[in-house]
Amino acid sequence: MSLTAETRTDAATGAAESPWWRQAAVYQIYPRSFADSDGDGIGDIRGVTSRADYLAELGVDAVWLSPFYPSELADGGYDVADYRDVDPRLGTLDDFDEMLAALHARGIRVVVDIVPNHTSDQHAWFQEALAAGRGSAARERYIFREGRGEDGAEPPADWESVFGGPAWERVADGQWYFHNFAKEQPDLNWDNPEVRADFVKTLRFWADRGVDGFRIDVAHMLTKDLTEPLPSRAELDALPFDGNHPLIDRDDVHDIYAEWRRVFDEYDPPRSAVAEAWVDSSRVPLYARPESLGQAFNFDLLQADFDAAEFRRIVTDNLTLAAASRSSSTWVLSNHDVVRHATRYGLPPLGREHRGRGAEKQGAAWLRAGGPESALDREGGVRRAVAASMFLLALPGSAYIYQGEELGLHEVADIGAGERQDPTFFRTEGEEVGRDGCRVPLPWQSEGSSFGFGADGAHLPQPEWFGSFAVDAQAGRSGSVLELYRRALRLRHELQTDEQLEWIETGRDDVLHFRRPNGWEVVTNFGTEPYPLDRSIVVLSSAGDAAGTVPGESTVWLHTSAQG
Ligand code: NOJ
Repeated sequence: MSLTAETRTDAATGAAESPWWRQAAVYQIYPRSFADSDGDGIGDIRGVTSRADYLAELGVDAVWLSPFYPSELADGGYDVADYRDVDPRLGTLDDFDEMLAALHARGIRVVVDIVPNHTSDQHAWFQEALAAGRGSAARERYIFREGRGEDGAEPPADWESVFGGPAWERVADGQWYFHNFAKEQPDLNWDNPEVRADFVKTLRFWADRGVDGFRIDVAHMLTKDLTEPLPSRAELDALPFDGNHPLIDRDDVHDIYAEWRRVFDEYDPPRSAVAEAWVDSSRVPLYARPESLGQAFNFDLLQADFDAAEFRRIVTDNLTLAAASRSSSTWVLSNHDVVRHATRYGLPPLGREHRGRGAEKQGAAWLRAGGPESALDREGGVRRAVAASMFLLALPGSAYIYQGEELGLHEVADIGAGERQDPTFFRTEGEEVGRDGCRVPLPWQSEGSSFGFGADGAHLPQPEWFGSFAVDAQAGRSGSVLELYRRALRLRHELQTDEQLEWIETGRDDVLHFRRPNGWEVVTNFGTEPYPLDRSIVVLSSAGDAAGTVPGESTVWLHTSAQG
């Protein structure tokens, strides 16, 4: 079977023209945890600039920066107090421009995160809404309602927030406001034209500065139908996600993106956008269409076990979905919201009955139990993670790499309650420990203060074992995870010349083999028995010297012209 995703054609010349993002390797930077230039324990924009050469040497095509805007950090920066500025703790707009220039000078594009579903409660608009009182235009930018029961003391509905706890919060004058996430993140009212106009202004602000693209946070949640009476939580839970659900994945959200698309297309080259939309696969193409955001994250691999059948099904399905939307697919194994994949793959697999979000659930359960070392196979986890990453980097479409995965970094489980930052931890009263463990500042040096992250400590505790994963312990060392990523990302530029993939049957249900039409082939052995190759020349192997086989839990890249 041959699968393909469309490449756009230039209207004037008829020549095939592939926008940069269709097959880009995008490196996700979580700015507060990447590199700290001023020694305050928090990563910053100058820190990113100082590592521009590292990013260039790694060979990524773009970076996506998680929010760096002014924020009270109630949700790691996804509570934005001002969309058109830089958090003073992270730098200034001048620092941002310098960073952009430094990355562009190295051929690296820059994608920024837009958080349109909610603001911070510290945003000027929300402060104004609190002061202005009920019935005011300022409250109309958010979702305020009267409560139920005597004196309106009960919330307008019994809905639960994504981070746990109630989704409605009462303000001093007795009204309630709606927040899908933490109470410090009030949801905006997207029926309000002022809200729509302000986000267009924000998009232009960053596009005018030279930003190449946008990642749209919870793109499927912006529009709502809050016609009274509001449904109960049980009623909400029983409703299908068919485009008419009151809160999630409504068809009318695409009116917003159609307007944004017109803005993106005013620029040359058009600005790109990728939707973070946790919706049913069948509805992902709506976000990925060229007339909507143009691309959407596919989180299927991130939720899968290290399993050949699951990986093959996911790749086949997503290439078909991407082709249906005329976009290219995206591939992700780790990000700032989930347990790192080296750790997920180092835990004993859950039974078949847990397939789906199995590996992810397993990671969360391990963290809750205090991350016992006895349950984690550290080396095996890294071996499988690297095999999966080398498989992913050879697939048609964009590959997302989360900072630290190029070091084979594990999740940090050992973070005391007093040091935790994730609102999930607080809102579930510690029942869910949350996402801090994948956000611990990066180790750049095997020794010294905060392992080279900054001059004076790190805002989340780094464990001792971080040193052996540090950049300086791996750079230039043949066989290290970092050098493997560097080599793969260099070769990827030769490999990603088309968007097609053909499966080759292996006769083994734990081995996947695919071919790209330009002569590149990739074999991943998900099992433990070596898989013999009928040719001896391997261009890249995640297991070091492969000697005519694909060792267990490894990936090799072959090229037919390299055949001996
Ligand atoms: C998705 C982001 O990835 C996550 O980190 C954040 O907590 C929520 N959206 C809310 O903004």
